[in-house]
Amino acid sequence: MEILKIEGGRRLDGAVTIHGAKNSALPLLAATLLAHGISEISNCPQLSDVAASVNILRHLGCTVTRSQDRVVVDSTPLCRSGVPDGLMREMRSSIIFLGALVARTGEAHMSFPGGCELGARPIDLHLAALRQLGVEIVEERGRLECRTYGRLKGTAIALDFPSVGATENILLAASTAEGKTTILNAAREPEIVDLCTYLIRCGAKIHGAGEGAITVEGVERLEAAPYRVMPDRIETVTYLAAGAVTGGRLALRGAEPEHIATVLPSFEEAGCTLAYTPGELRITAPKRLRRIRSIRTMPYPGFPTDAQAPLMAMTCVADGTSVFVENIFENRYKHAGELIRMGANIKVEGRVAVVEGVPALSGAPVECTDLRGGAALVIAGLAAEGTTSLRELHHLDRGYEGLEAALRGVGASLQRIK
Ligand code: EPZ
Repeated sequence: MEILKIEGGRRLDGAVTIHGAKNSALPLLAATLLAHGISEISNCPQLSDVAASVNILRHLGCTVTRSQDRVVVDSTPLCRSGVPDGLMREMRSSIIFLGALVARTGEAHMSFPGGCELGARPIDLHLAALRQLGVEIVEERGRLECRTYGRLKGTAIALDFPSVGATENILLAASTAEGKTTILNAAREPEIVDLCTYLIRCGAKIHGAGEGAITVEGVERLEAAPYRVMPDRIETVTYLAAGAVTGGRLALRGAEPEHIATVLPSFEEAGCTLAYTPGELRITAPKRLRRIRSIRTMPYPGFPTDAQAPLMAMTCVADGTSVFVENIFENRYKHAGELIRMGANIKVEGRVAVVEGVPALSGAPVECTDLRGGAALVIAGLAAEGTTSLRELHHLDRGYEGLEAALRGVGASLQRIK
């Protein structure tokens, strides 16, 4: 088992480079199934979730080559439409392959993706929408057996929640369906815009990407195209919080501040100064942060749920009381218990968490509860007095490429030991 040992109390100062967005790379890799020929996806982060997606593409018959941040997918040899349980279990968001697989091959056989640390992670919106497009789905014994009879048919779909994954699955299934599909109450995240931009480059006819209503005019066939993944907005927030909590000064190369426009005011409220020149977002933090009055997570463009844990870690050592309301996932405060072990003062009541800033956190043995919860513990460890030993690092490796090296590069003292 690996442990990350963090010596806290060091001020971060320097520059880090932001990688391609995990939550855009995953649907983009699924979309390469739909496009005939060779797609070169660049700025693709080297993460275990990306490796899991590559394994699924290879299992389905695609030829996939990887070098550094480039993943080249040739979907020509695609010859299967089933994803085995082991591969489905490797990555919770593997449900994103469903829409593309059934649109390209006429069928899809996979197990229910199962829950994760954040809760049950239902897929009812995905399945209802695909059924409306003409997919016959039989759910039995934890399996999804899907098939279509002829081409999928475009239709009007209204989502009762702007689900990111469901919006992505609908876009992937509707791009080559017969006729027009409209998605009402679609997710508006930047990752949706990234996916639509790639699909349009492959020949899809999509209007309204990034808005609440998206229309797709189905086309016969999509031709593969190259694409560069957008920068990771949650990795950006994570590094901002690391700089903030250590009273540091960081330059984030390749960050896109527009994607986190509703998060940046929280850093300013906490007393940080932000500056942006094209290609670089800089933060300068005070010695002691101030509280953040209230953070409510909402669908984009509201405050992103993935940024809740990293900012909670920051407010643990701020002056005053910060209030969080988690509106997206039913169980996304598991990191609070681990932060309390480090001396944080947090009260969780259902969707609300109240954080009373303390003078200092103290290093302790803690464990990652999920991906962003793990990031919160790294941030807390950077600020804590003494040594923090972090376990269950596989959660971190799902979403952060080269985290330790990047933090060491700006003055942190941390190392991963077996
Ligand atoms: C995506 O998950 C992201 N993952 C999540 O990031 C992110 O937190 C989430 O969007 C919200 O922004 C990827 O893109 C791979 P949703 P997704 O469908 O698509 C409920 C991270 O840390 N829901 O918008 O699963 C669901 O239970 C991860 O990088 C249904 O009820 O999110 C949740 O409460 C974590 N039925 C809410 O909607 C459904 O059919 C939001 O889910 C689908 C979702």
